[in-house]
Formats: sequence, structure tokens, C-alpha cells
Amino acid sequence: CSTLGIGLAGFGTVGSGVWNTLQRNGVLITDRTGGSVELAVTGILVRDPAKARATAGDVPQDLFTTDWRSLVGNPAVDIVVELIGGTTDAFELVAAALRAKKPVVTGNKALLAERGTELFALSKEMATPIHFEAAVAGGIPIIRSVQDSFVGNRLHSLVGIINGTSNYILQRMTEAGLDYPPALGEAQALGYAEADPALDVNGWDAAHKAILLATLAYGFSIDPEKVHVAGIEQVRPIDIAFAKQLGYVVKLLAVIREHADGAIELRVQPSFIPKNHILASVNGVFNAISVVGDAVGEALFYGRGAGQDPTASSVVADLVEAARALRHTAGHRGFLPYRDSGTLLPVEETETAYY
Ligand code: NDP
Ligand code: HSE
Repeated sequence: CSTLGIGLAGFGTVGSGVWNTLQRNGVLITDRTGGSVELAVTGILVRDPAKARATAGDVPQDLFTTDWRSLVGNPAVDIVVELIGGTTDAFELVAAALRAKKPVVTGNKALLAERGTELFALSKEMATPIHFEAAVAGGIPIIRSVQDSFVGNRLHSLVGIINGTSNYILQRMTEAGLDYPPALGEAQALGYAEADPALDVNGWDAAHKAILLATLAYGFSIDPEKVHVAGIEQVRPIDIAFAKQLGYVVKLLAVIREHADGAIELRVQPSFIPKNHILASVNGVFNAISVVGDAVGEALFYGRGAGQDPTASSVVADLVEAARALRHTAGHRGFLPYRDSGTLLPVEETETAYY
């Protein structure tokens, strides 16, 4: 197979995670796709090329540019990955990539929730896809599940914890009695928070994700101004202590629910959850989403909702999806990828207890 070139716009927490994952698992990806997908980063957009960056292996300096037009226009770039964040430069960059008929992969939920109507119209017009698994719940494959796995369901509800930063802050407030500013500082240091962390604590990051999920599930454009959004910035350790006395925990919950008349309820707010409920034990950077469909019943998704590697995992999955489409191949999808070698541990060496 010939190599597909990746233009990485953004080389911060997630962008450098994508680089690391491709360095570590590039051969595995080519193997898993039956040799049809080989990916190489052929350009990197940053604000400051001189910044020291902790990455796996050296990054050739000539890959860096500060001009998004040259990244998108680079003939060696086949797929554009937008990981710069925000809704202005990112919009121009994604729109230019679509106009150049280069598939886009993005983790930018703010961009898609605020300006997705324009971008998806352009995507349709140019017959060029936008992939956005990383935009909702980090490493959890919720977008693919709603788009593909549950495509045969009428979805009754999607309810869950979809902001890792606020969930981490609530846990630190619960366990260490911290107020939210120092707990937010920890979440920022761990790479969970948005460049503008106000979006995490005021509920809007979760709302952007909920808007994307609701749009996928119910197929209409949602005006962010009509969504009820409250964040955790008013929650104090004393509220958490009162909740505990009453047998509850406090979580930032996103609720998307279809009512009997077909209207869709959409809200994000700190909520009391009974301490024995499964969502009550979702702590730290973890996210969880309960999806209820008329055929599947309830399905529960759980995993890391933010951070470098989990988010890179979703971006790379989208890259492979985009590459398969460009190559007109399903790779190994629909087939079992038997290899020539592999070792099964002898049964006498297996453990009887896992936990
Ligand atoms: P960072 O702030 O860590 O990285 C942003 C990168 O983009 C940096 O490399 C920066 O350059 C570059 N950049 C920003 N603006 C410009 C610009 N105008 N022109 C050129 N380069 C620019 O962000 P994250 O990696 O955390 O997030 C990126 C995106 O992924 C956001 O949309 C975010 O919402 C989303 N996301 C983040 C997750 C996370 O856990 N962090 C999880 C899921 C999605 P420089 O390095 O020179 O400053
Ligand atoms: N800031 C976001 C969060 C990143 O904390 O959940 C993942 O989208």
C-alpha cells in the first residue's frame, strides 16, 4: 500500500498523543487493516515551533509550520486532523480542508456544536467527511456506537457523565475536601481541561458534547442557546457533604431524553445520584454514558473521557476510518484477520481467579 499523509493541526496534549500512538502502533495498524492503511505525519501546525515537546522519538523540525493554509494545501497531506481547539481559526482550517476535499478528523466539540450546521453542510456539498469520535467522551467509542451499532434503534435516552475535568474536580472535592480552583489546577496539569477551563466548570463542554449526541440520535440541528446548562462552579465541599449524609453523590449529569410527544429534553446540571447507582461510582477522569434504545435496551459505556492517550486512541480510530474510505477498502472489517503466528498460554499456566 502507499502511505497516506496526515496533517496534524495542533501538537499539544492530544496532537502529540496522536503522534506517539502512530509511532508506537503504526505497524500494528497496517497489519490490522490487512496492509491497506499506512499512515505518516507529513505536516504539523503549531503556534510556536521552538517550544520543547515531550514526544516519542524526535519530530523532524521541517514538519512544523505556523501557517494553516500551507498545512491544508500541502500536497503530501491527504487527511487533516484539527486539534487546535476554538471556533474561529479551527473553523477556517476545517472549511478549507473540506473545500480541498481532504477528509477531516477533529476532537473539537465546541466547533461542531456551535458551528457544525455550516461545516456539515459544506462536508455534504464537498462529499468529504468529518470524523469526530474524540469530540465526545475521550476514548469511549460512543459516536461510532450511536452512528453505527445502534443505527437500527429508536433511541429513548442518552444519560451520563461526559466531562472528565468536572468529574475529577468533584472527586477531589469529595475525597480531599478541596475547593474547586486547586482541584481544577490538578486537572489542567493532567491534560484533562480545555484551553479555556471555564467551559469545563460552567457545564458548556458537556453541553457541546450532549448537543452532538442529541443531533446524532435525533437528526436535527440544536441551538445551544436553548439548552439548559449549569456547571459545577457553584458546588462547594459542604454541598457534597450534605449529599453524602442523604445517601447521594453529586455528579455533573448530561440528560438527553425523548418524551412521548417526540420532544427532546436536553440539559446539563450538577445532580444528586443515589450512592448505589452505577453512575455514582464513576470517578476521576472517567466518563460513563447509559444509552437506551428500543431494540438494544440499556447499554452502558465506561472509560477515560479525557487525557492524552485515550483521546489519541479515538483520533487514530477516525484516521483509520478516513484512510479506509480513501483507499476504498474495508481493511479487515467483516473478516477475521488470521495471522501466521501467535501463542496461546497453556491452560495449566492460566489463573483460576481474575479478580
Ligand atoms: P492544547 O492546548 O494542549 O493544544 C493545542 C495545540 O494547538 C498546540 O500545539 C498549539 O500550538 C496549537 N494551536 C492552537 N491554536 C493555534 C493556532 N491558531 N494556530 C496554530 N496552532 C495553534 O489542546 P488539547 O490538545 O488539549 O485539545 C485540542 C482539541 O482537542 C480541543 O478542541 C479540545 O477540546 C479537544 N479535546 C481535548 C481533550 C483533552 O483531554 N485534552 C479530549 C478530547 C478532545 P503550540 O503548541 O505552539 O502552543
Ligand atoms: N475537557 C474535556 C473533559 C476533555 O474534561 O472532559 C475531553 O473532551
